[in-house]
Amino acid sequence: MKSADVRKTFLSYFEQRGHTIVPSVPLIPAGDPTLLFVNAGMVPFKDVFLGKEKRSYTRAASVQKCLRVSGKHNDLDEVGPSSHHHTFFEMLGNFSFGDYFKEDALAYSWEFLTKTLGLPSEKLHPTVFEEDDESAQIWSRLTGRPVSSVVRLGPEDNFWAMGDTGPCGPNSEIIYDRTGACLVDGSNCPLTHDCDRWWELWNNVFMTYDRAPDGTLTPLAQPGVDTGMGFERLCAVLQGAASSYETDLFVPLIERLRALTGDSEITDERRPAYRAVADHARAVTFLIADGLVPSNEGRGYVLRRILRRASYQARLLGLDKPFLPQICAVVVEIMGEAYPELRERAQQITDMVADEEERFLDTLDAGVERLNIIIRPETLVNRPQIFAPTVTQAAPKVLPGEEAFRLYDTYGFPIDLTRKVLEANGWSLDEAGFEQALEEQRERGREAHGEGKERDEALLAATRDLPATRFLGYETMAAEASVLLVSAADDGVEAVLDVSPFYAEGGGQVGDSGRIVGANGEIEVASVRRLGGVFVHSGRVARGTIAEGESVRAEVDESTRRATMRNHTATHLLHKALRVVLGPQAKQAGSLVAPDHLRFDFVHGKPLTDDELREVERIVREQIVLDRHVRTDVMPTQEALGSGADAMFDEKYGEEARVVSVANGDALRPGSGQVFSRELCGGTHCHDTGEIGAFFIVEQRSVGAGVRRVEAVTGFGAFEYADARRRVVDELSHTYNVPPQELPERLRALQERAREAPKAAAAALPDPSEVLARAELRNGSYVIVDWLDGVDANTLRQFGDALRSKAKSAAIVLGSAADENLNVVVMLTSDLVEKGMHAGKLAQQIGKALGGGGGGRPDVATAGGKDASRLDAALAKARELLGAAV
Ligand code: SER
Repeated sequence: MKSADVRKTFLSYFEQRGHTIVPSVPLIPAGDPTLLFVNAGMVPFKDVFLGKEKRSYTRAASVQKCLRVSGKHNDLDEVGPSSHHHTFFEMLGNFSFGDYFKEDALAYSWEFLTKTLGLPSEKLHPTVFEEDDESAQIWSRLTGRPVSSVVRLGPEDNFWAMGDTGPCGPNSEIIYDRTGACLVDGSNCPLTHDCDRWWELWNNVFMTYDRAPDGTLTPLAQPGVDTGMGFERLCAVLQGAASSYETDLFVPLIERLRALTGDSEITDERRPAYRAVADHARAVTFLIADGLVPSNEGRGYVLRRILRRASYQARLLGLDKPFLPQICAVVVEIMGEAYPELRERAQQITDMVADEEERFLDTLDAGVERLNIIIRPETLVNRPQIFAPTVTQAAPKVLPGEEAFRLYDTYGFPIDLTRKVLEANGWSLDEAGFEQALEEQRERGREAHGEGKERDEALLAATRDLPATRFLGYETMAAEASVLLVSAADDGVEAVLDVSPFYAEGGGQVGDSGRIVGANGEIEVASVRRLGGVFVHSGRVARGTIAEGESVRAEVDESTRRATMRNHTATHLLHKALRVVLGPQAKQAGSLVAPDHLRFDFVHGKPLTDDELREVERIVREQIVLDRHVRTDVMPTQEALGSGADAMFDEKYGEEARVVSVANGDALRPGSGQVFSRELCGGTHCHDTGEIGAFFIVEQRSVGAGVRRVEAVTGFGAFEYADARRRVVDELSHTYNVPPQELPERLRALQERAREAPKAAAAALPDPSEVLARAELRNGSYVIVDWLDGVDANTLRQFGDALRSKAKSAAIVLGSAADENLNVVVMLTSDLVEKGMHAGKLAQQIGKALGGGGGGRPDVATAGGKDASRLDAALAKARELLGAAV
């Protein structure tokens, strides 16, 4: 059975049994700071299990993209050696939210495997949680085997949790016996044995509790079922493949790689690297397709690490050219049908991977070079091949752990590679020292991270039973509310209300500021953030006290919020304008909407030209001046996405989404074709684009491979920006006494004259013979201390050389002022150097007298300074020094 058919068969089996088919969400979890990546099929349903979110269905089935590279579920280190572990994988799952429970769940999974797919039942072995008699009984009935044959396992194996907190419960797994005998010694090993005989195929989790940060388990109001089946493994079983890497999901990737390495077959020794490259190429492709960009922090850093791991593994296979884009292109080819986002972003994926891989190869070069300098400093010139021995060392040398850590941390140089280069050169690594440096860094990370995290965890625990805050800020800037919680924070106070007009930071828009006023006190709110379902208002107590249970008035600082709204609506206009000018691939990669400016990151590989920038500004301004209506519609998310609205990958969209459209008049429904921009957005916006008032792009720059950033200002901020510029122009116009429009011409002319001045001065230099004729002769040597105004340091030196070659013996000090710099050269003929004079030392002292510095070789040296008033003193000093020495 082809993998594409396996997906279809699974979904249609559950659809026929009343399940709603739910499309995969992106790998980047929406609005869930406790999780870096979606690591299981149940993640999109987390709040449904917890009873915090309602859906229109109680049964669902999905094929969900998952990534297990961090936190509680991390398979990164298994990849390579293992036949069936992956970082990126697809999980087949069916879910019940307070609908069916153990009986039906287990029966479905048994029927699907044995009847629908026709797997031999004798090869399938159920396990249950040790205390779960009910499931053991059900399995006995389903399999026709005695209850005692059902294997019971402890919480390590059969109690599943998504992370340290959240929904969890006992689970029951179906294990597949691939070989009938132990792969190590041929015995009948137990199904917990770690040989490749047993594969876990399907996991049925009975979601029963919500785990708090302190470990307490609170029973869920409605227990549910969360099942997950590893898609790649199932395909391997159905396709009779020895590993999931030998299914149609991986073979084309491995084959392309083999074509590149030229291996006629893949040996056992090289197989792990093949698998790792294929696995990581999938992870990288899917992450970029979901909008992630390689970076140095957070999720982007994980992407960078996976990509580098792939690239490095290929180096182990002997590939020394960029190759990864080719493998990623194959991923797009074979997975693009099931995941159209791959096709949409195909170009961007290969561009980004190519750019990032090249950077990494540079890093590798830099790292190897650094290592080499340490191993054999004199090999500075020839860059060695990565693995080629550069030196044969008689006695083994040891690289300090700290140095290895610096390579690893600062240069991103893989530690395995450090070991290899060292080994090839007869060196070794101070492993303990490296471990210690690594541990120290982790410690620093924990400390930096710990404080905020602890507070959030405590606050999460305190707010877990509170109802979700109802946001009133789309309609109003002030509201009556009840205080549900007040808690002292290190630097102030944090409050949770039942309803709030304050926008909580999200979707790039900063949280509101304002005041919470009660009968006996007032809180000045500086920021608002979301924690679970509640809004946390942070600030300081401005007067008196505010108590829990009290009624208060919550007032948003209106002028600040309005400024933020102008920037948010302008961000939507900018996003659209960029795509009009640069093309549809210039999609949003991140944004910040603050009151004083907006920042927008988007996918584009090169700087915008001046013309492009002007055109983007013109389009945005046109929308402002035409005063378009900004309308908001709440509609089913699927419908919104189907209508072509733009969505951000790391935002949380429930079943219903807000759609913000900038349209041509009031009556328009989105989809009518006269809409300028339409985005899924939870932020707050102007009613009409005219409120934005004005728009200027103030900066553009690169923020990583293939991503650019522009910053812009609107409204009063835009007026301030324009005024500040106007003041500068007025001042220049006044100083140079020309009208503003003539300034560029005037400044160019001045610049030209300044450039010509040293040349003119050089042309006016005296004849060296004349200078010698005038010079003092002391003990048979010329002593020349002279001032040549207006020439630059180079000319000075050339003139000094001319003097030196004319005189048999001379001590020369020449000075000049050019471009506000004082330059001095000191030159000695060789006979004086042999007598013990030293130009460098003389220059040092002259530099000091100049209030600057100096130094150089025994025969030629320079000194410099900035303070023209010290010139005479410095020349006097030079005369004195030479007088004493010659
Ligand atoms: N959440 C469970 C798992 O990931 C079952 O879907 O194994």
